[in-house]
Amino acid sequence: MVTANRNKVVIVGTGQVGATAAYGIVTHGLCNELVLIDHNPAKALGEARDLDDGSEFQDRHVKVRAGDYGDCADADIVVITAGRRPTGKGGRLAELGFTVGVVRDIVDQVMASGFDGVIVMVSNPVDVLAWYAWKRSGLPRTQVLGTGTALDTSRLKTIIGEQTGLDPRNVGGYVMGEHGDSQFAAWSTVSLGGKPFDRFLADNRDRFSSVSTDELAMMTRQRGNEVVAAKGGTNFGIASTICGIVQTILWDERRIVPVSTLLDGEYGEHDVFLGVPTELRANGANEIVELDLTDEELAKLHASARIVREHCEGLL
Ligand code: LAC
Repeated sequence: MVTANRNKVVIVGTGQVGATAAYGIVTHGLCNELVLIDHNPAKALGEARDLDDGSEFQDRHVKVRAGDYGDCADADIVVITAGRRPTGKGGRLAELGFTVGVVRDIVDQVMASGFDGVIVMVSNPVDVLAWYAWKRSGLPRTQVLGTGTALDTSRLKTIIGEQTGLDPRNVGGYVMGEHGDSQFAAWSTVSLGGKPFDRFLADNRDRFSSVSTDELAMMTRQRGNEVVAAKGGTNFGIASTICGIVQTILWDERRIVPVSTLLDGEYGEHDVFLGVPTELRANGANEIVELDLTDEELAKLHASARIVREHCEGLL
């Protein structure tokens, strides 16, 4: 059973993403114990020691150590970041052939430990792999989720903030669907200072010069690829996203976050994981918020579902 005393997080994969997420978890003091696992145990050990070396100057001491899959037995959350660095070709879906085998081995070993907490999938393509981990693990749907469009939503807000000179946190609303090229900004849900975004745009043309909503959505969609092209991968944005999700689950904050979760009739979709606003609690992904999307937005959600489902076929 998932218990109320939530204090142990395991990160599998200590590459750029896993190591940066570990740093965020330690600096935010999110849990009591953080265990790092990597296919290269020396790397996990090095990262754990390096993180723990700063204990004197951290607000709260998080015990960090390298471990093995036995550590998942009493973990509250297992974060899976394993995979290879993006090649920059073919997008996130192109990683599936390589990563699915890695994720299969990880999920099997996590489950063999007796794990009964929440799996947070980060490896790409995240929607496909979250669905796969859910099927493979046999865990309830609440206990497997992916980072979904939480990062894309943050990117949209950041880009609107850049355009307007306002704090991105003034922006409400969601990017939804696949964490990939078929994602879409659900403009009918986007607001700025409580004002529907289209109204804000019409009333504040000076702040946006000639930028259209299509361009803002495109910039959001491409931001990850641009960062990959510039530095070979992304780590800080996704690590912040991981920390936010870990915090809201561990602390039972009940934030609504567009994680990748199982659609079981919501939005007219079944048996597919997509980024949709979801209430996160101590036991993981709970109620999905069913927004009044426009017909065009709904069509985009179904298009994302088709793409993700196609890639799930034949994996089991
Ligand atoms: C990104 C990776 C996590 O969008 O897919 O940064």
